[in-house]
Amino acid sequence: MTERNDLDFHWPAIDPLEPYTTPERLARIDDVLRHRIVSIATVFEDVFDPHNIAAGLRTSEGYGLHDIHVIHNQFGMRSKSTVAKSADQWLDVHQHGSTLEGARALKEQGFSIWVSDLQATETLTSMPMDPKIAIVVGNAKTGISEEMRALADRRYILPMYGMVQSFNLSVALAISLEQLVPRRRADLHGWGDMPIARMWQLRKTWLEFGQRHAEALRHALEQEAP
Ligand SMILES: C[S@@+](CC[C@H](N)C(=O)[O-])C[C@H]1O[C@@H](n2cnc3c(N)ncnc32)[C@H](O)[C@@H]1O
Repeated sequence: MTERNDLDFHWPAIDPLEPYTTPERLARIDDVLRHRIVSIATVFEDVFDPHNIAAGLRTSEGYGLHDIHVIHNQFGMRSKSTVAKSADQWLDVHQHGSTLEGARALKEQGFSIWVSDLQATETLTSMPMDPKIAIVVGNAKTGISEEMRALADRRYILPMYGMVQSFNLSVALAISLEQLVPRRRADLHGWGDMPIARMWQLRKTWLEFGQRHAEALRHALEQEAP
């Protein structure tokens, strides 16, 4: 895992848009990027309710995650803007047309698939961390699919002691993240693990947010550079 601290950390260059951003905003962008974690991803399996997805995106972003996977089975693929109306400008939202397609893509990227599941018996506290973990939550009506259960590397239950049978899916996600992200961050000495090249690309994009004619401005400044 990448270790990152203030002493050995350098951006590869000066971005021409930096002088057009306030020092406070620049510091905030840099701080957020340095804390971004890409070794934990969030997965929504066939979640239809956009409010639940929006709550999950917001929670994931707040914990410093960056990659969100949205799997569509019976509810069908939707436009990116419909899926991710709120926090998406700060996140990468990846859409998949089926559980199999989503699980394959995650496994190809080296993720272990950890499924939150009311039928599971293990709890998160008893699980050793894997290098890359994709946390899956299911939809409010039918929960996790049998296919996802079969593809899972681990399944876990969040213990409950009340009369209700399940947590809201975005709450289940938040409880899961609270149990996993601080453990990962502690291993990273408090920092994130996004590769610097990806942070740099993202920084470029974020510096363009709110800049009028950002692309034209960047182009003109790059032409001017010696
Ligand atoms: C409202 S629950 C789904 C309830 C559904 N009727 C079922 O039987 O699974 C939505 C999702 O949140 C997650 N979840 C909610 N409560 C959970 C718990 N106590 N343990 C593990 N996952 C939970 C699961 O991913 C679940 O699929």
